[in-house]
Formats: sequence, C-alpha cells, structure tokens
Amino acid sequence: MSYEFIVVNPAVVEYVATIQLNRPKELNALNLQLMGELKSALEELDNNDEVRAIVIHGNERAFAAGADIKQMAGKTAIDMLKIDQFSTWDSIRRTKKPLIAAVSGFALGGGCELTMLCDMIVASETAQFGQPEINIGVMPGAGGTQRLTKAVGKARAMEMVLTGNFISAEEAREAGLINKVVPVDLYLDEAIKLAQKTAEKSPIAVQMAKESVLKSFDTGLQEGLFFERKNFYMLFATEDQKEGMNAFIEKRKAIFKNK
Ligand code: CAA
Repeated sequence: MSYEFIVVNPAVVEYVATIQLNRPKELNALNLQLMGELKSALEELDNNDEVRAIVIHGNERAFAAGADIKQMAGKTAIDMLKIDQFSTWDSIRRTKKPLIAAVSGFALGGGCELTMLCDMIVASETAQFGQPEINIGVMPGAGGTQRLTKAVGKARAMEMVLTGNFISAEEAREAGLINKVVPVDLYLDEAIKLAQKTAEKSPIAVQMAKESVLKSFDTGLQEGLFFERKNFYMLFATEDQKEGMNAFIEKRKAIFKNK
C-alpha cells in the first residue's frame, strides 16, 4: 500500500519495521489522513509474519507537534462527535506487536499521546514532551489526562496539562515516561536495537506479555493477576515454550518459530 504522510519500511532489519511520520513542514501534525494511514499500516504490519516489532518515528526536529490544529479549528462539537477522530487511536492501541516510539524534538499534544500509545519510548537529548492543548483553549483528548498521569503521577501531569509546560527528555526519563535518552544521532538506531531485542523472543510470548502489562491499566489487581496467570499457562501450548526451556537446559540459544 502506498501512503502520502507516512513512510513504511517493513524490514529495516530482520523482523523490525519502521514507520516514519512524514509531514515535516507541519512538524508532523497529525491530521486525519495521517492517522488513518498509520492505522492501516499498523494493521498490515501486525498481520505480517516477517514483522515482530515496529518503530514509529518522526524526524530530528519533531516526532509530532500534535493533532492538526488547522484541520480542527473551524469544527463544531457535532462535527467532532461525527468524525470521532480518536476512534482511530483505539485501533492503534490494539496492535499486538510491540510498538516503540523513537522521539526527537517535539512530542506535543497528540504527538506526546501517540508516544504513550507505544509500549516503549527512546528519545534523543533534544526531545520535548508536552500537553499544550490548554494554550489553545482545549485539553488533551487522546489519552493525555489518563496515560500521562499513570506514567508520571498527578503532580507532574497536572502541571503539564494545566500550564502547558514541556518537559525535557531527561525529565521524562526520570519521571518514568520514557525508557532511554541518547544523543540525537543515535535515537533511531537505539529504538531499532530495542525492537530487535524483543523481536528475538518468542512472538507469541511477547504478544501475551504485552497484553498482560496493558491489562494492568484497565483492571484491578486480582483480575489482572488472573489474566496474567491464564496467559502464562496458555504459553505452555506453544512450541516456543518447549524450545525456550529446552535451550536453557541444553545451554544453547533458543530458536523461536512463532508456533
Ligand atoms: N497543527 C497544525 N500545524 C502545526 C502544528 C499543529 N499541531 N504544529 C505546528 N504546525 C505548523 C505551524 O503552523 C507552522 O506552519 P506554517 O509554516 O505554515 O506557519 C509549521 O508547523 C512550523 O511550526 P512553527 O513555525 O510554529 O515552529 P516553531 O519552531 O516556531 O514552534 C511549536 C514549534 C512550539 C511546536 C509550535 O509549532 C506549536 O506550539 N505547535 C502547536 C503545538 C500544540 O498546541 N499541540 C497540540 C495540538 S491539539 C492536540 O494535539 C489535541 C489532542 O489531544 C490530540
């Protein structure tokens, strides 16, 4: 499939795909078409057995500076309800394979929220994270008040959401929002390395582990533990479990077949 606002590489290295957000003049502002393309590309990659992890990135100046303000400015509440732009985000969240955001420059508003839809975040030293919607008379609408608060706690989330203050990559790392901060020329490579590392594991185990971690956001402890336990037991139905455990006992590297 060909896209206008994203660039997809299904095999940047073995088992790892990249998707570049590609509206550089608009700092990768997330218009409806871009988000639709992102949803379709992720669905396609999720169904591709040659892909085991996906890195989403922008360019050095911007991961994404938010939803497209120019596209939204004239809309009425009814238009917004009808378009329901954030339903696309629910589909993205359902991606089974690990998503890694590689962030340089601005990750603001919907851009910050998109990084938080990903499972891990690698940032360059220049990255800035923020929810500046309050400056334009609205508020975060794609998970910013929820996922940000869970990641960085109430005090910092309130400051970011109520004042629009940005945080640096280093502050984001200290707060637990992101995994790693690296020099700007390395952020994409580091994200791909992280993707490669998870792509070496059993894809079924990775998928179930991801699903179980995400479950903790939606449920109480007891239900979450029950869900985790079922997934753990279920993995004993896979060849990869036998291979992984036998390889450990035989002191060799496991070769996982996604079976
Ligand atoms: N939507 C549409 N266009 C945007 C944009 C956005 N979110 N962010 C930047 N652009 C455009 C600018 O309008 C500008 O276009 P022109 O050259 O045609 O004027 C171009 O990108 C470059 O931007 P600037 O000239 O403003 O660059 P700068 O370096 O001076 O400032 C910035 C960079 C601080 C990121 C500034 O662009 C900015 O504040 N952007 C908006 C950030 C924002 O408010 N994001 C939240 C959007 S709402 C949202 O995301 C809701 C949600 O929950 C999903």
